[in-house]
Amino acid sequence: MNNKRHFNTILVTGGAGFIGSHVVRRLLTAHPDSRIVNVDLLTYAGNLSNLDDIPALAGENRYRFVHADIADGDMMRRVIAEEKADAIVNLAAETHVDRSIVDPGSFARTNVLGTMSLLNAARAVWEASPEGYEGKMYYQISTDEVFGALGEGDAPFCETTPYNPHSPYSAAKSSADHFVRAYHDTYGLPVLISNCSNNYGPNQFPEKLMPLVINNIKHGRDIPVYGRGLNIRDWLYVTDHAEAIDTILHNAAAGSTYCVGGNNEQRNIDIVKALIAVTDRQLGRPAGSSDRLITFVTDRKGHDLRYAIDSSRLQNDLGWKPATTFAEGLEKTVAWYLDNTRWLDDITSGEYARYYERMYGSR
Ligand code: NAD
Ligand code: DAU
Repeated sequence: MNNKRHFNTILVTGGAGFIGSHVVRRLLTAHPDSRIVNVDLLTYAGNLSNLDDIPALAGENRYRFVHADIADGDMMRRVIAEEKADAIVNLAAETHVDRSIVDPGSFARTNVLGTMSLLNAARAVWEASPEGYEGKMYYQISTDEVFGALGEGDAPFCETTPYNPHSPYSAAKSSADHFVRAYHDTYGLPVLISNCSNNYGPNQFPEKLMPLVINNIKHGRDIPVYGRGLNIRDWLYVTDHAEAIDTILHNAAAGSTYCVGGNNEQRNIDIVKALIAVTDRQLGRPAGSSDRLITFVTDRKGHDLRYAIDSSRLQNDLGWKPATTFAEGLEKTVAWYLDNTRWLDDITSGEYARYYERMYGSR
């Protein structure tokens, strides 16, 4: 499909995180005439080693990293203006539901106030430019968690499903989405929103289910399964999400929303069993060696039962569909974490955090 629009400079926020790093790589590869500016605060979840290959891939002048907080409005205005950013893709966020239950305030700060600060900065710089909003786009990366929880027989979430968030994380993401739509309706800011299901793949911080389970299997540690493991998520391989983001950014009508998903509903206990099978095999251990590690633990507070996404609007309008089968994605994911021992160990030992504290101050 030929893209409908071109951007000279795309500002990606949260580009040192899990999905953001794949988005940076995808945009640089698919758009050789675009520059990428990556704004990231390098919180505990940000990791510049996710981007080790980027300087070689981008060559001279096509990539710049800016260490900054999206909630710093003056800084965001300066970066957007100096870099002449004509698109902003906002992935920067606090993203772990369990952390949001312990510390909701940090989620309100980054996900709500941070998003507002970016919206205000985009408005200020773009409204003052000679061409105004012409050729500009603000794109908010959101989650399926804003829709709440489905029962077993309910139809999947789609673009018209009302918001009904339950966790502090999803409440903050919902609030951000409402602000994005309000800036479109009130000021005419050209915006896009997509709501995606659970991503998996390389570079995910090992507090999330898949990398945590793979790491625990490797080390022979207990695998914590919340409740009875019967909650259902819809899993999408991360590079397929990055491709969807690229497609939407370059082709979707301003003001539109898309749901992105893998059409791949799995119970948590089945994910854990599948990871045990693949990881034990890749490690050369006899089948079933790690079954004994499965440990049912106290359930997450307010744990949403089921998420599922109907992405037919995106498939019909823009021709995107997931390219990676679940079997293939699991093999690649397990292989990546087993091959990238240093990446995993530097995070879990705190070595990475200590290094970036020395480089950039406290995280
Ligand atoms: P992540 O936690 O791996 O990365 C978040 C990144 O944002 C990190 O690099 C972090 O340093 C950066 N960051 C955090 N606060 C910041 C701030 N104030 N200023 C600048 N940078 C900041 O997250 P992820 O899983 O890659 O998710 C990225 C986005 O996609 C989030 O908005 C999330 O809500 C959304 N999303 C994630 C999933 C998923 O399954 N992971 C699914 C749907 C939507
Ligand atoms: O649906 C999209 C969302 O997916 C994103 O918006 C979030 O940023 C992302 O973190 C993810 O949220 P989840 O809460 O679904 O992901 P997590 O990996 O934390 O958990 C997946 C499921 O596994 C969930 O039902 C809780 C369960 N779980 C999780 C962990 C960390 C366990 O049973 N044990 C665990 O140790």
